[in-house]
Amino acid sequence: MTVTSQTWLITGASSGLGKSLASEALRAGYKVIGTTRDVGKAAASYPDFSENGGIWIDLDPAQNDSYDRFVKCSQEHNVDVLVNNAGYAFIGGVEDTSESEVRDQMDVNFYGPLRAVRACLPVMREKGSGHVILISSGAGFIARPGRATYSASKFGIEAVHESLSHEVKTLGIKVLIVEPGAFRTPFSSRIITPARFDNGFSEAYKGTAVEQMVVGSRQLTSIPDYVKGDPDKAARAIIKATVAGYDYLRMPLGTDCVIALESKIADLQRDLEATRSIATSTDVD
Ligand SMILES: NC(=O)c1ccc[n+]([C@@H]2O[C@H](COP(=O)([O-])OP(=O)(O)OC[C@H]3O[C@@H](n4cnc5c(N)ncnc54)[C@H](OP(=O)(O)O)[C@@H]3O)[C@@H](O)[C@H]2O)c1
Repeated sequence: MTVTSQTWLITGASSGLGKSLASEALRAGYKVIGTTRDVGKAAASYPDFSENGGIWIDLDPAQNDSYDRFVKCSQEHNVDVLVNNAGYAFIGGVEDTSESEVRDQMDVNFYGPLRAVRACLPVMREKGSGHVILISSGAGFIARPGRATYSASKFGIEAVHESLSHEVKTLGIKVLIVEPGAFRTPFSSRIITPARFDNGFSEAYKGTAVEQMVVGSRQLTSIPDYVKGDPDKAARAIIKATVAGYDYLRMPLGTDCVIALESKIADLQRDLEATRSIATSTDVD
């Protein structure tokens, strides 16, 4: 298979990082299938996609029927590269978040990508080649206050992709986990907070880190200056990696994400040093 004959399947291609990836992939000469929950809306807001040969598929990864629909798409279009991109963030305190709000987040950010992966693997295995790319987040490695639900969905789906990377290593399929920091997309304007509370947090969490995170997230009607990530540059970096090849699993994007990852790795190292003697004291004599 030559690189330019590749077929890319990108979930949530109507806006933000998915849209940038779709545009860059089309520019690179690939065939691109984009999923969206509303083809009419996607076609109106992103007309260049169809004009440049992109194919819209009306598909919501969070719905139970999406596995069968991903299978059909993967077989019909002989998909080489799956990009699990569709997602949103739920921001709220652990105690304030209802179980159904957690389930909704998992349906979109965990079960949706899992269904897509399981559906696309057979075609890739048959060919002995392919890429599975997860658009995760720095929140897939770091769980900040107010982000338990979002981070749980991203930690969980990262685990699936990490495990998969080992399982398919000898089958010619590569797995890439992309961890963006803050990027200039409509993402922050679509954040959901606990519905039970007008402010998104309960009285008990007033003045805590939960209030700070929820209020900070809800006030975002436009993209703040501190958000430095350029989605088009992110898209080009991802495509470049698939062309040049990569021997890493995780690819952080954005200086903010690098700094946050370094801080978390230092915390992990500190905890390991503080508990090393305890850990090694519990083996059988
Ligand atoms: N922007 C950031 O700062 C940032 C940082 C870290 C990680 N990320 C990750 O990057 C990915 C793309 O986000 P983005 O920044 O490009 O945001 P975006 O512009 O809001 O795009 C998100 C896409 O996901 C789909 N989507 C959103 N909510 C959904 C739902 N409830 N059910 C099914 N599909 C849904 C939408 O597709 P349709 O509406 O067309 O169906 C949309 O195209 C997400 O997985 C996000 O977690 C973003």
